[in-house]
Amino acid sequence: MKDNTILTRRSFIRTAAASSVALSWLGASRGSRVFAAEASKPALLGGAPVHSGGWVRWPQWREGWEPELLGVWRSGKWFRGSGGHVAEFERGYAKLLGARRCLATASGTTALIVSLHVMDVDAGDEVIVSPYTFIASYNAILTRKALPVFADTDPVTLTVDPGSIESRITERTRAIMPVHIFGLPCEMDPISAIARKHKLAVVEDACQAWLAEYQGRMCGTLGDLGCFSFQESKHIPAGEGGAITGLSEELIDKCESYHSCGHASGTNQGSGFFTRGDNYRMTQAQAVILMQQFDKLVQETEIRRANADYLNAQLGKIPGITPVGLPKNSRAVWHLYPFRYDAAQFNGLSRDGFARAMAAEGVPCGGVYHEQYYDGLLDEAIASRGFKRLWGAERLKAYRDSFQELRGNKQVCETTVAFTQNMLLGDHRSIDDIIEAAGKVQAHSAALVKA
Ligand SMILES: Cc1ncc(COP(=O)(O)O)c(C=O)c1O
Repeated sequence: MKDNTILTRRSFIRTAAASSVALSWLGASRGSRVFAAEASKPALLGGAPVHSGGWVRWPQWREGWEPELLGVWRSGKWFRGSGGHVAEFERGYAKLLGARRCLATASGTTALIVSLHVMDVDAGDEVIVSPYTFIASYNAILTRKALPVFADTDPVTLTVDPGSIESRITERTRAIMPVHIFGLPCEMDPISAIARKHKLAVVEDACQAWLAEYQGRMCGTLGDLGCFSFQESKHIPAGEGGAITGLSEELIDKCESYHSCGHASGTNQGSGFFTRGDNYRMTQAQAVILMQQFDKLVQETEIRRANADYLNAQLGKIPGITPVGLPKNSRAVWHLYPFRYDAAQFNGLSRDGFARAMAAEGVPCGGVYHEQYYDGLLDEAIASRGFKRLWGAERLKAYRDSFQELRGNKQVCETTVAFTQNMLLGDHRSIDDIIEAAGKVQAHSAALVKA
């Protein structure tokens, strides 16, 4: 059914055929809505924006969640140990993922720290990690006084290139930390094979990958331990919060002890404070909010997937936009919808210029991670007394120099653009607006370069 209202209101021309080279690659889209990108002036040059009315707000609250949450506050049983909600959440989340066990934590960062501790990543060890990630992945390793050694990023998948891992293994390497960034599953089979061959632990950073799947199994259950974040921007948020999942009772029992001051837990028994610990516990209220969102997460994941598939098909037709490639037999969950942007095919319109033009059309987007290893945190670590003692100047210099080898990552940092996950929850018209805005910017890129 043709959406004449939109076409008229926005003064779109009715046929894509109309003299439009720019449109020949876009064609007709969902519901036969015809994009006529070149007909209207870009908003940045004084035309009408493609999209109005904003986007789905995030995080979302449901009044129906309030009685149970109030019940927790009124009970005075707020801390993990004084009630059963956190343990109930753990059972529910493990079931959702097909994990044997789950341990709730205060955040994704603390989930990573606990997991690295339990996998025996110690001072002076090295962990191979993807550089294209939120900075917490680096920080968790540094907190263990270990060195984050970066494998390269595959520009097709935006995740770690398994072929770049083995050459970075040294006698100090203890673990590999693949990051399922944006909810895009890493190519885990070769990563697991390398880990087995070199007897390394695998700690998955699945902090953006709730319900993502690889070869029929959920991310977070593919390595020794998997870590999740429930921070406010996430698909299942509680303000802050995290979880560790795994298939081994013993490992999760050790995680439980460490995350709670070194108390005995399950198979990890001893007398008094027999093991080291910290306090990274989740509260009862966090657990209640999270449990209330299990069904929502499942339903919204399918919506994001359907819209991302549609965007991949349509945006992929626009010269200069390349959707990400996924490993075979995997399902992403799209925490952010990323794609690669080629300025040369947009008449030299820079990535920032593209983002500005899209924002003017009412469709916000932008670059995501930059080459964070040059930001200073690693220089600070390298210059610290502890790190100098643990590695020596020669190794640390070689380590710093090796950042230049991360050519795939540099390319990904410079050319990736993303829309936020809440935009994928928009109705069909909003998703079509994204495609139309990108087409419009492409069609007018020569003029926009001069703006
Ligand atoms: C890839 C990745 N790792 C780790 C974290 C850390 O999680 P948190 O913010 O819950 O500590 C995040 C959070 O954004 C993340 O995106």
